Amino acid sequence: MKELMAIEYKNNKLLLIDQRKLPTINEIFECTTYQDVEFAIRDMVVRGAPAIGATAAYGVVLAAKEFKDLERKEFFNNMDKACSILNKARPTAVNLMWAINRMKSVIEQNKEMSVNDVYNNLKDEAHIILNEDIKTNRQMAVHGNEIVPNNAAILTHCNTGALATAGYGTALGVIREAHKSGKNIFVFADETRPRLQGGRLTAWELKQENIPSKLIADSVAATLIRDKKIDLILVGADRIAVNGDTANKIGTFMLSVVAKVYGVPFYIVAPTTTIDFDIDTGEEIEIEERADQEVTHVGGVRVAPEEMDVYNPAFDVTPSENITGIITEKGIVREPYRENILKLK
Ligand code: MRU
Repeated sequence: MKELMAIEYKNNKLLLIDQRKLPTINEIFECTTYQDVEFAIRDMVVRGAPAIGATAAYGVVLAAKEFKDLERKEFFNNMDKACSILNKARPTAVNLMWAINRMKSVIEQNKEMSVNDVYNNLKDEAHIILNEDIKTNRQMAVHGNEIVPNNAAILTHCNTGALATAGYGTALGVIREAHKSGKNIFVFADETRPRLQGGRLTAWELKQENIPSKLIADSVAATLIRDKKIDLILVGADRIAVNGDTANKIGTFMLSVVAKVYGVPFYIVAPTTTIDFDIDTGEEIEIEERADQEVTHVGGVRVAPEEMDVYNPAFDVTPSENITGIITEKGIVREPYRENILKLK
């Protein structure tokens, strides 16, 4: 089967699988400008921390393509502006800022070169970012598979698969690897209200890979955990603080609390690009709030009364004391988190 590619740069265009429409419609969203890319991230055509990072890098490439015929000074000014617009597309996943910073350092280091060479170097850097993510996905999958027991029932939240990354996935990558390595596993996928990344995207990926699984409403998870039906919980991350506190899709924190009460191992699977070495604890993580409509409407149909107020944070922070380990491409990090996370820098 052809590997699923959520992000592809072809003929000077960025092609994204439109994740707003999956699984009913499988359509490509074409980006020809950096503004298209900013929109695609903000409107969640593409989502998932590593996928957002790689996409933003190509946004910088498209900006350079647009501005490369301008006079030098204007080129650099416009690139600055484009980078800061892309940087603000979504606030929580640090991979976005990480990728933009990496692209900005290429611009900085090449300031003496011709604008055309800067453009070519930016294109190379974006390809490197994409390919590095593909590679780290594989490494995380291998490390993660070590802690998956045979016959494990695994609970996962949100979508952390090929759609959320450039390659194999993070938490779902570990699940794919365990399945491919011949382990007899069973997956419970939370539907993940309000945007249903689990119900629409994880379920779609699990079906494509023929991984034995069931979709559950988020509110079922606690009962399954209490009833000893879950051996392991694997989730992704959008930003990890130096002390190990981890922001991930809303609902993750709640799972971690129940897991701790009932003694179920709770692992984060994330590349080191998701670690924010500039923040000490989860309290410093900005949590995105999204539109009321995500909660008041289901499938475009209003289900809540008109003018009902809504609180819709897209992420929450799981304190590190609830986390059994963080599976990265460099190995599995465990307590003491601050000391061990700093070793990854
Ligand atoms: O709002 P989303 O869909 O971008 O949120 C995605 C998640 O929370 C994922 O769990 C996280 O990005 C890790 S995915 C590899």
